[in-house]
Amino acid sequence: MATGLREVFADVISTLLREKDMKEFADQYGPWAIVTGATSGIGEAFARRLATSRLNLVLVARREDRLVGIASELEGRHGIETRIVPVDLASEDFLPVVARATHDLDIGLVVNNAGVLKAGTFLDHELADELYQLDLNVRAMMIVAHHFGRRLRERRRGGMIFLASTVAFAGVPGVSAYAASKAHVLSFAEGFAPEAARDGIAVMALCPGPTSTEIWPGGATPTRPMRPEAVAEIALRNLGKRTTVVAGLINGMTALSTRFAPRRVNSMIFARVIGGMLRNAVTSSGTAVPSPTTSSPSNHRANV
Ligand SMILES: NC(=O)c1ccc[n+]([C@@H]2O[C@H](COP(=O)([O-])OP(=O)(O)OC[C@H]3O[C@@H](n4cnc5c(N)ncnc54)[C@H](OP(=O)(O)O)[C@@H]3O)[C@@H](O)[C@H]2O)c1
Repeated sequence: MATGLREVFADVISTLLREKDMKEFADQYGPWAIVTGATSGIGEAFARRLATSRLNLVLVARREDRLVGIASELEGRHGIETRIVPVDLASEDFLPVVARATHDLDIGLVVNNAGVLKAGTFLDHELADELYQLDLNVRAMMIVAHHFGRRLRERRRGGMIFLASTVAFAGVPGVSAYAASKAHVLSFAEGFAPEAARDGIAVMALCPGPTSTEIWPGGATPTRPMRPEAVAEIALRNLGKRTTVVAGLINGMTALSTRFAPRRVNSMIFARVIGGMLRNAVTSSGTAVPSPTTSSPSNHRANV
């Protein structure tokens, strides 16, 4: 066969295989997906990647102008339908807003992604800010999971991706409440996954390491950050195959290594690593993020 003809043939085959994969994915997890925190970072990357698989999208976040821009771009580029839900997921009564906006849609995939990172020492933060982080990172994720989980259970197929983090594997000075919120998400998703599997729902606890997104405070220097597109791709490729997915080889090795060290040692190592990344960070009000006090190992005994 002439080289040109062979290339055309290979192109046709790979297009057909891609179309087949996309159809299988859409049958399992479509026709609609909901992505929380879709206006930037990992959530936006999920939305863009899912649009290429031709899933229709519900995009949720606070910044309406960004939601409108992303939604109209994805509709135009991929011929999908979108619906935007501008809402503060940390607010007491956000569920009726989301439920009303989605009640008539056949949602097959939930990307439970929206989150914030409050960096610095716990006692230097206002309690209200800490509770805001808890409400968004934990409470909102539970509410979204419960509401859409029941809907997925009725249709007996679908998927839910929960954004945890590699810091979920240890107590981490400098981001102590954030890491605890991610530990909750990780533990919950791992426990929920076998329950949900009985109803045909694939649950994933996705644990990215440092990723280049807007979550980091100004001046922070995440080490070897991954691109949010790579994180979303890894998750979607593993959905339905694995429950706990740590994005990236080095992050995977970091998470694995926590199994072999005492918990206080894990905390010290994470404190050092995260402390380095936050060394020059400043808060939104322009003040320096206070660095965590790394106390001597003996002070950590209660953690073991
Ligand atoms: N980046 C990392 O290094 C990293 C590592 C591990 C895990 N993660 C996790 O990945 C998830 C996504 O974070 P990201 O890194 O992509 O951060 P990001 O770029 O800051 O995106 C956060 C998203 O959440 C939305 N959001 C924030 N507060 C909200 C609220 N109150 N109500 C509704 N939406 C809200 C933001 O949109 P609006 O501002 O428009 O509301 C934005 O779309 C988070 O759960 C985070 O913990 C990130």
